[in-house]
Amino acid sequence: MSKSLIVYGSTTGNTETAAEYVAEAFENKEIEVELKNVTDVSVADLGNGYDIVLFGCSTWGEEEIELQDDFIPLYDALEEADLKGKKVSVFGCGDSDYTYFCGAVDAIEEKLEKMGAVVIGDSLKVDGDPERNAITEWGKEIAEKV
Ligand SMILES: Cc1cc2nc3c(=O)[nH]c(=O)nc-3n(C[C@H](O)[C@H](O)[C@H](O)COP(=O)(O)O)c2cc1C
Repeated sequence: MSKSLIVYGSTTGNTETAAEYVAEAFENKEIEVELKNVTDVSVADLGNGYDIVLFGCSTWGEEEIELQDDFIPLYDALEEADLKGKKVSVFGCGDSDYTYFCGAVDAIEEKLEKMGAVVIGDSLKVDGDPERNAITEWGKEIAEKV
């Protein structure tokens, strides 16, 4: 059985909800899921025998891209994670009225690519409230590539 880690940072609960929908899709595809708030995760945990690690983070800020507060320490230390050649995928909630719609998703993906991680599928950018069907559909597509 494949094993996944879904790490999310969420201030108002939207990305947390999205993470739960992704977890649901993975479990439906018989993939074991560890769903964790980023506050409970260290970089050392990331390379810990998972077949895929998913990162979920919302975007905050006006003038520039700002990651969700709790996610910043993990993002800053990400280079220390053993993710070279490992499958990863990124999702997050945002609002397309802002200049950098889901900028955190792009920033995390860019860093992961630089580290040599293998980004699976297109990232998911959720505009407004997380919608179950769209998110589980995305989760299903990613799950098929694990
Ligand atoms: C002060 C403020 C700044 C925001 N900045 C951005 C932004 O730059 N880009 C974006 O896509 N969304 C932005 N948003 C929207 C949030 O990312 C959105 O509400 C998201 O659903 C929050 O997800 P969370 O509950 O998981 O933290 C901002 C919201 C607020 C209140």
